[in-house]
Amino acid sequence: MKAYSIAFAASVIASAMANDVSVVRPNESFLPNNALPPSHATSDGASIVQLFPNLGRSTTWNLISRTKFEGDTGEPEGMARIGDDRYFISAGQWTVPTTKYPQPINGTDRTPGAGFAHTLIYDGQGRLIANATLTKPGDIEYHTGGIDYDGRYLWATLSQYRPNSTATIVQIDPLTLQKKDMFRTKDHNGGIVHDTITDDLVTLNWGGRNATTWSLRDYPHGFTPLPGFTAPKSSVPEPSFFVDYQDCKFIGHHALPDAMAVRVGGQGGKRPIMFCGGVATIGTSFNLGGIALVDLETMLPLWEVPIAMKSDLGVSVTQNPIDIAVVDGKLRIYCLPDQHNSTLYVYEAA
Ligand SMILES: *[C@@H]1O[C@H](CO)[C@@H](O)[C@H](O)[C@H]1NC(C)=O
Ligand SMILES: *[C@@H]1O[C@H](CO)[C@@H](O)[C@H](O)[C@H]1NC(C)=O
Ligand SMILES: *[C@@H]1O[C@H](CO)[C@@H](O)[C@H](O)[C@H]1NC(C)=O
Ligand SMILES: *[C@@H]1O[C@H](CO)[C@@H](O)[C@H](O)[C@H]1NC(C)=O
Ligand SMILES: *[C@@H]1O[C@H](CO)[C@@H](O)[C@H](O)[C@H]1NC(C)=O
Ligand SMILES: *[C@@H]1O[C@H](CO)[C@@H](O)[C@H](O)[C@H]1NC(C)=O
Repeated sequence: MKAYSIAFAASVIASAMANDVSVVRPNESFLPNNALPPSHATSDGASIVQLFPNLGRSTTWNLISRTKFEGDTGEPEGMARIGDDRYFISAGQWTVPTTKYPQPINGTDRTPGAGFAHTLIYDGQGRLIANATLTKPGDIEYHTGGIDYDGRYLWATLSQYRPNSTATIVQIDPLTLQKKDMFRTKDHNGGIVHDTITDDLVTLNWGGRNATTWSLRDYPHGFTPLPGFTAPKSSVPEPSFFVDYQDCKFIGHHALPDAMAVRVGGQGGKRPIMFCGGVATIGTSFNLGGIALVDLETMLPLWEVPIAMKSDLGVSVTQNPIDIAVVDGKLRIYCLPDQHNSTLYVYEAA
């Protein structure tokens, strides 16, 4: 396990403040003791892969806790549970709705709308610690999606809130909530994970239909300077018609348990794996929730499990942010499905 501890140099950080960060509880640090807990890949990733094949349609999910997150959360989109007492949430605040065009214009199907992207920090009791605004008034890329924590940074996407548009990939420091714009891509991107072993970023576009890969080993020389667009190293269409992945976490490179390996042709060796949650709207009103382990390179689902639980407000619990952990040898999922008035639901697989 690798844990970083970074002393706060308050004056240095204050002068580097680019984002507008509203500190709601000044006596609480963004991370306890300013320590950076390990990522899934270097902590519970291997256990997640071992336990996942026990999950199926008939799994009993016991509700462990239900915690109201204070304030108006807007639309929560992604969540990284960093240590036992911090939840970093990417959330959208929509000020002008998008409206559908009669037919596509410039490859997309709706007006840009307007809004702001936020990163919120909550503690385990649902108390708001900080609220950063990542975008400026009038920014067209104001939609933030799934997020991933790699043991040092958070990774996020800022996109136009419409398909076939553009996105800027950003790195956010959880100790300061300052972001760094890394590169731009000529597509809407929602989910993102950082494979810390290959140093690849994998991003998912609208509905998670395409996965694109970027090598940070080529950064910055192989990347087009901003605001230019950089083409991905590779792109893979999503082969599954199960749920559209909304929020994913890199969990490491692992040998597949036999039950999983047979589903992908018995591939030997370690595979790069992410955990994802999401929903699929089937027909006009049926929302199927689900979670999956997915091979990052091929996008082949290694194990898929439907999730039937709904929030007290009637929303599928896998609609928006999700994270996972192994606690006392059991798998837990952390879900924040509702907009505006959000409750964190924690379930454990029996
Ligand atoms: C923060 O800490 C200071 C000094 O210990 C104390 O005076 C203040 O009441 C605390 N504020 C809150 C909101 O707890
Ligand atoms: C974060 O700040 C924005 C204004 O910039 C506000 O609309 C939103 O409600 C705040 N979020 C929370 C959870 O308080
Ligand atoms: C379509 O793209 C053209 C060229 O970039 C631009 O001038 C025009 O405003 C765009 N139309 C809309 C509706 O966005
Ligand atoms: C976006 O582009 C893809 C690929 O060209 C196309 O299949 C899809 O229909 C487009 N989506 C919209 C909403 O225009
Ligand atoms: C997926 O990406 C490829 C290559 O970048 C592109 O040609 C294709 O239209 C994309 N498909 C969708 C559904 O976005
Ligand atoms: C928030 O949702 C809970 C149910 O999860 C409900 O009891 C409560 O009244 C709601 N609060 C507001 C302000 O809408």
